[in-house]
Amino acid sequence: IPVEPFDYVVFGGTGDLAERKLIPALYHRQIAGQLTEPTRIIGASRTPMTDDEYRQFARNALKEHLKAAEYSEDEVASFCARVHYVSVDAKSPDGWSKLKSLLDEGKDLVRVFYLAVSPSLFGDIADKIRDFKLITKATRIVVEKPIGRDLASAQILNDTIGKVFKEEQIFRIDHYLGKETVQNLMALRFANALYEPLWNSAHIDHVQITVAESVGLEGRVSYYDKAGALRDMVQNHILQLLCLVAMEAPNSMDAESVRDEKLKVLRSLKPITPANIEKLTVRGQYKAGASAGGPVKGYTEELGGPSDTETFVAIKAEIANWRWAGVPFYLRTGKRLAARVSEIVVAFKPIPHSIFDEAAGRIEANMLVIRLQPDEGVKQWLMIKDPGPGGMRLRHVSLDMSFAQAFDARNADAYERLLMDVIRSNQTLFMRRDEVEAAWKWVDPILNGWEDTGQKTQGYTAGTWGPSQAIALIERDGRTWHEAD
Ligand code: BG6
Repeated sequence: IPVEPFDYVVFGGTGDLAERKLIPALYHRQIAGQLTEPTRIIGASRTPMTDDEYRQFARNALKEHLKAAEYSEDEVASFCARVHYVSVDAKSPDGWSKLKSLLDEGKDLVRVFYLAVSPSLFGDIADKIRDFKLITKATRIVVEKPIGRDLASAQILNDTIGKVFKEEQIFRIDHYLGKETVQNLMALRFANALYEPLWNSAHIDHVQITVAESVGLEGRVSYYDKAGALRDMVQNHILQLLCLVAMEAPNSMDAESVRDEKLKVLRSLKPITPANIEKLTVRGQYKAGASAGGPVKGYTEELGGPSDTETFVAIKAEIANWRWAGVPFYLRTGKRLAARVSEIVVAFKPIPHSIFDEAAGRIEANMLVIRLQPDEGVKQWLMIKDPGPGGMRLRHVSLDMSFAQAFDARNADAYERLLMDVIRSNQTLFMRRDEVEAAWKWVDPILNGWEDTGQKTQGYTAGTWGPSQAIALIERDGRTWHEAD
């Protein structure tokens, strides 16, 4: 579906996010016919550059990040014709009048300011946007994480942006919400009658959310060492996944309805206290090992100095409400793990009584596995009778829906959907201020608790599933982490 024409101004236009994600995503949307005339993409950053030089930057980004079959000279040429560049300085008035006159050419277009820059510049940029009167009726602003490093700094950032923009103009990206299978979670839950009656503590034993990465620091040393896995992945992506699994049915897909329900989940998370933090959380840090077939350095060697930042975290969380009381949500994420795999496992309770004798074998509990990446898909594990005349022997099998096999569609990157939702002014897949702050409210006591109790990271060998304490965290409860297959 075509969207209205727009001007997309990307601050940090020469940065990594623009190069790897934003430019390729907009190009794909052009192929899909969504960039109607006279849509423009305007790179903005401090580096002095001409339009042509920036077009070359865009071209290189596309060469580097598209599959060969997606790169067409004609298409790229028409994409580059939309690309412009303005050199602006967030901290001085330099360049802003030029940006204003460029934008004045598209007065009636939807206007987006995408802040792909360090959050320390959000305030300066927002102020300049206001001072140079760049805000029209159809203006929106997009911000990326990290939105703060704790509740207090998140509130300051939100205030800073909130002084200039109204909440309905602010799009806080969590790119996990743009992932195909994450949205499918809503389809699975609310477009089927099958699961919802079972989706509660009477029938669900526990939930696991794993976001495992095989990569290490990827050159983001200074950011990551100050953040750590809890801030980098749990406060945002994993808690958002947890919300989608646990929320009540919203009245509609309307942004406020969905976000109201997610907020209630965040507010119901049971606080982790200094008294139970060691039992409920594990911090890990990778040591030298092997990954992707070769030897890799340990975290501190990659960093080049000592550090106790966690590159792995496992948490046993609980949601204190009627639906979920007593159902543990085991969360884990880490860098340099054995595989890149993200999945949500909903483990149902065992059957109440078996009518089969021992020869039938063990009866496994039903399990729903939603695989987010790679190989998106949904598997429902069931018990069936082993075929053949050999008597009643039971077997655990899966009804397996692999997206790649079932649909002949290209798997669009999360950014493609989210960038267009900004144009459509659809905030359903973006985080509202109160959600971000409620997430920090739960995370802050964990960060403080680690500091106060002196809970250190546990070493794990790169290329494994994390420290043994993380395995103990779930096995103590008589459960095991689902082994991705
Ligand atoms: C980012 C984190 O938000 O998400 C990174 O800052 C992480 O550390 C990335 O690697 C993972 O995203 P994806 O889409 O590759 O799972």
